[in-house]
Amino acid sequence: MSTTTPAATLRPAWSHDEGAARVRALFAATFGDPPDGVWSAPGRVNLIGEHTDYNGGLCLPIALPHRTFVALRARDDDTVRLVSAQEASSVVTLTLSSVAPGTVTGWAGYAAGVAWALQQDGFDVRGFDAAVDSCVPYGAGLSSSAALESAFAVALDAVHGLALASDDAGRARLAAACVRAENEIAGAPTGGLDQAASLRCQAGAALLLDCRDGSVEQVPFDLAGAGLALLVIDTKAEHSHATGGYGARRATCEDAAALLGVPLLRSVADAPDGGTGALATLADGTPEGDVRVRRVRHVLSEIGRVRQFVALLRSGAVDQVGPAMDASHASLRDDYEVSCQELDLAVSTARAAGALGARMTGGGFGGSAIALVRAGAQDAVVAAIAAAFAEAGLRAPELLLALPSGPAA
Ligand code: GLA
Repeated sequence: MSTTTPAATLRPAWSHDEGAARVRALFAATFGDPPDGVWSAPGRVNLIGEHTDYNGGLCLPIALPHRTFVALRARDDDTVRLVSAQEASSVVTLTLSSVAPGTVTGWAGYAAGVAWALQQDGFDVRGFDAAVDSCVPYGAGLSSSAALESAFAVALDAVHGLALASDDAGRARLAAACVRAENEIAGAPTGGLDQAASLRCQAGAALLLDCRDGSVEQVPFDLAGAGLALLVIDTKAEHSHATGGYGARRATCEDAAALLGVPLLRSVADAPDGGTGALATLADGTPEGDVRVRRVRHVLSEIGRVRQFVALLRSGAVDQVGPAMDASHASLRDDYEVSCQELDLAVSTARAAGALGARMTGGGFGGSAIALVRAGAQDAVVAAIAAAFAEAGLRAPELLLALPSGPAA
């Protein structure tokens, strides 16, 4: 008897109408009256530039077509009532004045945290009722938390007439409020990549984000025109950045910067010697020194790869970016040590099945990988990945297609 691996299906993105209908129905069932409106924000994949954001470096994300939807109605008082389709039986109720670091747990911290951060910035933000649903995979390294924060950011911006979402400078301020919500209320020490991607990406483009000054450039990224597709492989190996390795990596980078006497490792990357002298300084013969060298080497080389990737996109050579993706994965696996068995398997299988390049994306320790494939090879790569995971006895991964999509709105 032969066994066959079931064909993997691609996770669909909801249309605006579908997402809006879902949250409107949940809102009506939970709170009775209609909401003031519906807003949504995308998850993201980072094409390259990983673990560079908190070092003042460069990143290159795109927004996914997969979005988080929120139906929201402003209140005149300080009360916040929240319901999520994932836990529809329980409404979270809190008062905005009680929100402070450590007081709100779970997903409500991301939503209420954004309102708190806007208040901290001096905006007159009051309570609200809100219903949430999402087709961004949760815990998959695709920024479901930033999508949630950003959907609330544009919703609160609209109902309070803050007018921040109307231009990129205002969106940068909304992104900063979302980062504060995540760092200070949800307690995850992440950088600003995810929130910038969700609020500042544009359809059809990759966002070149310079995390030293927050400036952005839209770099045209026409996958279909080049006959290419970008597969996202959610390995189902769950990760959390509120605990563990992510914070340790960040702390090592900050220690190294302090030892080198610079505010951020970006300064070292931009030094005339490209950081060679800094690496020699850090190599003090101790095991800790060796770890610092490898972590810093990743950050410096990754910033260089972002520049290389962007230069290829600008010259129209989208199909030439594979080697930079492969090198990024090797550096994250060997120097930064944030990959895992599932990510390595997804990447090596995609490449063996014909991908032009593949790498883990996001913070790592689980989560998702991306693979750039010729459109005609997509099915073969999808099938090879499903088969490899089954063969290794791992949970079946979930795949989706990344198309550079629009920002929170
Ligand atoms: C996570 C964090 C981001 C960034 C990436 C790694 O996604 O939320 O701020 O540090 O990891 O590039």
